[in-house]
Amino acid sequence: MIKKGIILAGGMGTRMSPLTKAVNKQLLPIYDKPLIFYPLSILLLAKIKDILIIVNKGQLDQYKKIIPNGNNLGVNISYLEQESPKGLPDAFILGKDFIGKDNVALILGDNFFYGQNLSKMLLNCSKLNEGAKVILHKVPNPELFGVAKINNLKKITSIKEKPKKFISDFAITGLYFFDNKVVKYAKQLRPSKRGELEITDLLKKYLSTSKLKAEQLGRGGAWLDTGSIEDFYKTSLFVSAIENRQGFKIACIEEIAYLNKWIGKKEMLKAIKFYGNCEYSNYLRKLIS
Ligand code: DAU
Repeated sequence: MIKKGIILAGGMGTRMSPLTKAVNKQLLPIYDKPLIFYPLSILLLAKIKDILIIVNKGQLDQYKKIIPNGNNLGVNISYLEQESPKGLPDAFILGKDFIGKDNVALILGDNFFYGQNLSKMLLNCSKLNEGAKVILHKVPNPELFGVAKINNLKKITSIKEKPKKFISDFAITGLYFFDNKVVKYAKQLRPSKRGELEITDLLKKYLSTSKLKAEQLGRGGAWLDTGSIEDFYKTSLFVSAIENRQGFKIACIEEIAYLNKWIGKKEMLKAIKFYGNCEYSNYLRKLIS
């Protein structure tokens, strides 16, 4: 079982400067809520209640204003600062004490997932006891991501970070499930040519012992990596279209906690007071009426 989850929400966001000069990228809006709500909602949907958010050095206060300690969601949220962006596997080195002897999920702070069977898939992934699992999604531009080549048994045969030459169009999304060996493996890694610890090198450790499994986000699923300003607008349009057409919100963290029965009406009323007079509060009010 996966009991712990890490959201890696640091990075300099330089590609989005000047927007990210004063505010961390993951606190910028995707339509009607901060980006960080979306990866957080994924961990909540996977029923992970012990969460560590890793943020850039000096940016802790910004985050605590919007997501204090998890009490409001009936979960436990703690924070750590990352000195500098040393690479994704640094999450397991920094988060060693938080992880302890447990298995752990990692989600990148800028990843957006949506899909009909998503909750079911997440619950299935969080059952992982041994090895590692990644979520794959077909993309038109695989050179921008870590990619996985799969055989006709849907098994991963090789992986490569941002391949210049085409090897597969299955991107490895920024949601990963690991057994406890991940801490040991992360410590063994050395920086790549671009000076970062690479998640694909970490995954290769599992691949070499045939312990790397893959799930595919089905056809109806959407995955967006919000790395650029263009991506922010596209994702915002997507969320607005779905929310306005269907009348429910994507990534309303209080709604997920309420439906999971981790919080009741009392906490919902507190949340309404906290957010104040806004459309998000109106939505919460409707849920409990
Ligand atoms: O989104 C999926 C992709 O994410 C994977 O397919 C790639 O294999 C993986 O390397 C990663 O690629 P990116 O180029 O998108 O990673 P990026 O450096 O943009 O970082 C992703 C997020 O993690 C971003 O919100 C910033 C945060 N981050 C990144 C690094 C390197 C940190 O908080 N700390 C870090 O040290």
